[in-house]
Amino acid sequence: MLWYPYAQMKTMAPPIEVVDARGVYLYTRDGAMIDSISSWWSAIHGYKHPELTQAIIEQAERFSHVMLGGLTHEPAQRLAAKLAEILPGDLDYCFFSDSGSVAVEIALKMALQYNVNRGQSGRVGILALKNGYHGDTFKAMEVGDDSDYHFILSALGKRADVYHIPTTLDALEAAFARHGEELSCMIVEPLLQGAGGMLMYDLTFLQRARELCDEYDVLLIFDEVATGFGRTGARFVADLVTPDIIALGKALTGGYIGHAATVASKKAFDAFYDDAPDRALMHGPTFMANPLACAVALKSIEVFERDDYLAKIKRIETIARRELADFNDPRVREVRVRGGVACLEVYEPDVLKGYPEFARKRGVFSRPFKNIVYTTPPYIIEEEELIRVLRTMTEFFATR
Ligand SMILES: Cc1ncc(COP(=O)(O)O)c(C=O)c1O
Repeated sequence: MLWYPYAQMKTMAPPIEVVDARGVYLYTRDGAMIDSISSWWSAIHGYKHPELTQAIIEQAERFSHVMLGGLTHEPAQRLAAKLAEILPGDLDYCFFSDSGSVAVEIALKMALQYNVNRGQSGRVGILALKNGYHGDTFKAMEVGDDSDYHFILSALGKRADVYHIPTTLDALEAAFARHGEELSCMIVEPLLQGAGGMLMYDLTFLQRARELCDEYDVLLIFDEVATGFGRTGARFVADLVTPDIIALGKALTGGYIGHAATVASKKAFDAFYDDAPDRALMHGPTFMANPLACAVALKSIEVFERDDYLAKIKRIETIARRELADFNDPRVREVRVRGGVACLEVYEPDVLKGYPEFARKRGVFSRPFKNIVYTTPPYIIEEEELIRVLRTMTEFFATR
């Protein structure tokens, strides 16, 4: 039996079977639907992009996978070099893995060992954000603010080395004043907290976090698994405030294959670069730097740059702001738009019951969560398709 994600298998609605996909459309036996969430934010070019598909085919005809221990290959070297080129500052040291959660684990492991390697093993604290989400592996869940995890861990006795703060300057200042000397790192989803409820916060918080991390000698980690490659309107939020370590995933491969990267600055890397074997980073996923993933990621970045995707994202933002400007409904608490994301937050989650079915009838695939209905469309979406998605979101309320 196929076991589905985040689902009570006994009561879940039957999932919709996809038989083909092209552009922004998913095809089922009953017709086409716009994928309004880009397969969890990843399919930024839509589906069956001829150049991306070709990149995978060509690499598969050479070799699909070799381990990276003791071996190397051109797609991995080229992708590491490309990421170093497009990331700001000296974020130049690229460690690949197979999913966003693992990329976050690696970032945290790096930060903790960074301190051990430089003789500061007392720094075991991690500063993280309330409503954060960093993936589903255990350390990633611990720095997230996930009630399911806290529920599991209350039985096991949760370690108190992670401090969760809201995204306010006061809370940030207070956290550093209290714990600054014992922190190894601060981890954030920069500007946009996705799974925590599409919460958007201000750049000034990140600017101040950068200053405090420098002052207290703490590594700043940006989890850009979701925000990377344009989702907030900037190519990376790291282009606006530079972290010491960044985690990338999802759109890295244009949604073709699960893959991720943890990219460290020279300062972080140098703490591992030594004659002593025990200062090495002891990590190595079997499928790290998978050649198919690297080949398609290189093509995805090439298309992103060549076809000026930042302008496409700006256009999505402009259309969404225009379409949602006059919308209000007493059941809706807030409308939020930033970059390639638009969402409606309602007061009561029950209001959204029936929304996926309503959307499907209008040819839109959508999956609200908690009290949020949202779109993170492929960047290649046409104006009239985006308008259909946005009007589906607003017109739903007129039918209830
Ligand atoms: C900010 C963030 N970090 C990490 C992850 C985990 O990535 P993955 O599902 O590839 O493990 C996600 C997934 O939604 C995410 O949104």
